Amino acid sequence: MPDDLKHLVDALQTVPQEAGVPKPDPILVADGVRRHFGGLTAVDVDHVEIQRGTITALIGPNGAGKTTFFNLLTGFDKPNEGQWTFEGRQLAGVRPHKVAQYGMVRTFQLTKALSRLTVMENMRLGAQDQRGEKLFALIFPFLWREARRTRSPSRRCELLASFNLDQKRDDMAGSLSGGQRKLLEMARALMVGRRWSCSTSRWRA
Ligand SMILES: Nc1ncnc2c1ncn2[C@@H]1O[C@H](COP(=O)(O)OP(=O)(O)O)[C@@H](O)[C@H]1O
Ligand SMILES: [Mg+2]
Repeated sequence: MPDDLKHLVDALQTVPQEAGVPKPDPILVADGVRRHFGGLTAVDVDHVEIQRGTITALIGPNGAGKTTFFNLLTGFDKPNEGQWTFEGRQLAGVRPHKVAQYGMVRTFQLTKALSRLTVMENMRLGAQDQRGEKLFALIFPFLWREARRTRSPSRRCELLASFNLDQKRDDMAGSLSGGQRKLLEMARALMVGRRWSCSTSRWRA
């Protein structure tokens, strides 16, 4: 584990193992998030905090409300009530693409790799603030052609390597196994994070 993350994880050792306890450095904090489908309460979360720099699992039986909770947090569904912040920013009511722009990117149970693009092209889709995204810039190829060729190549390569996909970079995503597609989706999601350092291949604090 990178040294700059170790203290974040160490800090967790002092936290009681109880639901909803405050964390030393939370990246995500949710309060009173509830979602009802008719008479069924699918999500009822009083308080939860996710510690920065850790891999946190949410477990529960089928139908417990995990997917619905992720849908709510990332703007794919709306709660009946509740607030939550990511990096201190209120996200209730924020639309999914904005949530992603703010750095919280989700993946899906059924993978959504674009099968007729290569692995690298899928990764390129995850990068943010690309010049060619703007309608105006689109009509002036000289504005984005060079950027398209060089954009974040080292970031892509290191991410792909850390997900064991670097040998597959020129393969069509559709030719990957189910597991590899899931890995590609996670790697692509991480392209959004400005916290990924290309040069050191680790998370910046
Ligand atoms: N769009 C929906 N309409 C009605 N009920 C739903 C909808 N989405 C989820 N549910 C119900 O909410 C509960 C939680 O579902 P879900 O979040 O998919 O659980 P999990 O992901 O933990 O398996 C289930 O009872 C499910 O049937
Ligand atoms: Mg689910």
